[in-house]
Amino acid sequence: MSTQSTREYPQSERDWKYVKVEIENGIAWVSLNRPEKRNAMNPPLNDEMVEILDALEVDESVGVVVLTGSGDSFSGGMDLKEYFRDLDDLPYAQQIRKRRSAWQWQWRMLLRYSKPTIAMVNGWCFGAAFTPLVACDLAIAAEDATFGLSEINWAMLPGGNVLQAVIATMNLRDAMYYVTTGDPFTGRKAMEMGLVNEAVPLADLKDRTTALAQQLLSKNPTVLRGAKAAVRQVKRLDWEASDEYLTAKNAQVRLLDPEGGRAAGLTQFLDEKSFRPGLGGYQRNG
Ligand code: COA
Repeated sequence: MSTQSTREYPQSERDWKYVKVEIENGIAWVSLNRPEKRNAMNPPLNDEMVEILDALEVDESVGVVVLTGSGDSFSGGMDLKEYFRDLDDLPYAQQIRKRRSAWQWQWRMLLRYSKPTIAMVNGWCFGAAFTPLVACDLAIAAEDATFGLSEINWAMLPGGNVLQAVIATMNLRDAMYYVTTGDPFTGRKAMEMGLVNEAVPLADLKDRTTALAQQLLSKNPTVLRGAKAAVRQVKRLDWEASDEYLTAKNAQVRLLDPEGGRAAGLTQFLDEKSFRPGLGGYQRNG
């Protein structure tokens, strides 16, 4: 992977109106970019996100994707006007057509994304924003960011797979409490409940996210891809199936790994005695 200075993305194909992408040293910073609307996700933003995730997945200069928001918001959720009210009276097939790109990027693409993803929650995070938040592999929030499952406050259930995302990360009591009360909570509380990995002061958020992304960039990308897929799949399997899956997945990763990382690691530990796998990564070539 080549490292390079900041650049706008993509350089020529088209202008993104609702999403900003900057690529810096292997990290793609993808910002939902409607700060005046608290980065509410409208259909054209969702369309752009599908195209952007698609493009970044095959961009060899990108090793990690960070999802965040411009201004003081991660995202105020689905756009209540453009995604709900404006579409509600359309024929059903047209509603689906307009809404499909939301599901497509917010969980279908992110859950199976081949590069590691980090959600960086810089501020407001409501409703539908929980879906991409949880579908990203890791999440770091500003301690004082405000989260909320506000659907109950305007007479909706947490659809768009929001509830699925909540149940995948929070325990039943916490999920039930916040789904039924709609009470907002802080980034600190989100960390305590396991909704995000860490909560840090807003002033440190980008530095901490960068450090985590750099740590991921230092790992063998083929193995990382296998490992994150395995974390998601094994959860659904029983012990027998899981053992079978992991054995096969490990064989697949070994076969596909152009670095031959496993053999290199064994040589460096057993023969060269140049590293200790318990404390850090093997020396990668190139
Ligand atoms: N959909 C559509 N528009 C939204 C929006 C959403 N989810 N969230 C914010 N906006 C718009 C507001 O309508 C307003 O637009 P306007 O300037 O044209 O009037 C603008 O963003 C700023 O919102 P405002 O409420 O004035 O900002 P705030 O900083 O005082 O409050 C929030 C921020 C996020 C607390 C508040 O906007 C809010 O409650 N949003 C809805 C959250 C929600 O329930 N989301 C679930 C959707 S699935």
